[in-house]
Amino acid sequence: MNYQTDIDDILSSLKTSLEGSSDIASIKLEYLGRKGKINSLMSKIKEVPEKERKSYGEKVNETKLKVEELITKAEESGNKKKIEEENNTWSDVSVVIRKEMGSLHPITQTKWLIEDIFQRMGFQVEYPFEIDSTDNNFTFVNMPPSHPARSSWDTFFTDAGDVPIVHTSSMQNRILKNNKPPIYAVVPGRCFRNESTDSRHEHTFTQFEGIVVDKGIRFTDMIGVLKTFFSEYFERDVEVMVTPDMFPFVEPGGMIQVRWEGQSEAIKKITKGTGWLEIMGCGMIHPNVLSMGNIDPDVYSGFAFGGGIERLLLIKYGIEDIRLFEKGDLKFLRQF
Ligand code: FA5
Repeated sequence: MNYQTDIDDILSSLKTSLEGSSDIASIKLEYLGRKGKINSLMSKIKEVPEKERKSYGEKVNETKLKVEELITKAEESGNKKKIEEENNTWSDVSVVIRKEMGSLHPITQTKWLIEDIFQRMGFQVEYPFEIDSTDNNFTFVNMPPSHPARSSWDTFFTDAGDVPIVHTSSMQNRILKNNKPPIYAVVPGRCFRNESTDSRHEHTFTQFEGIVVDKGIRFTDMIGVLKTFFSEYFERDVEVMVTPDMFPFVEPGGMIQVRWEGQSEAIKKITKGTGWLEIMGCGMIHPNVLSMGNIDPDVYSGFAFGGGIERLLLIKYGIEDIRLFEKGDLKFLRQF
């Protein structure tokens, strides 16, 4: 029986195992476990001639210590590597988020683009309060408490009697009161309506309000500003149709539709086959609204408009349903 060879074999096979595998726990069991290689060498002591047993026992003990030392070292360097790997992963966290996950929601992107286009035309940007008074939503835009048009706004009310704003026109009075003409302001923000949803209507959607007040402002100035806006937003000329419409806070009032060339199935669906989609209401600010904003309607005139940001997206990108924006479908959102 060549004891030395058995012992040498154990050490060299252990070194090979440790180099080739990161599963140190299994290797430890294989060598130091109850039925492991070291215990099996120990149990062979009965087969060793009596005079050699002492030195055999000593050799096996030495080998055991050597095996323990090699395994402990491997465990330590394995732990160190694991910690380093974890550290590397953590230090890269922001990069991973930016590259693989994060992007701005298409509504935010469009809101920022709208702000940018109007700022380049000299407009200031203001944001609405998401919950505001009935006065700001209705009274100050020429709908006093008894006005029948109030009931057409599908309004949510808080217990305190305030309103998750039904339109960004809720900011008109504040902007008129807080600024002196000339006033050029754009107000993007979320609106809320208690209405049933369909492919073009959401209960929560985003509007952008435009408010201009100066001396000698006319309806045609508004058309000029809006045509500039549309060609900047769509990055090409689009057909725009203005038809008469009624809002208590403008006189005369209008509705603006846009026609997008190309009749994809989605466009057919959202435009009901006509190619035209309503984008905004607009008109010359009613003298009562100017007066309530402390602006003399005999000296100044102005226009206002309120458009749907989702509608702009629907038509530009041929999206078939407005509800996709709030669905949280990453496949849809990652296209923008
Ligand atoms: C208004 O909200 C008026 N405040 C607009 C206005 C401002 C008129 C200033 C005159 C002067 P209207 O309810 O039509 O109007 O909404 C304006 C636009 O918001 C619509 O053309 C549409 O683009 C969008 N919009 C309205 N309701 C919804 C809805 N439920 N879901 C998605 N978009 C909507």
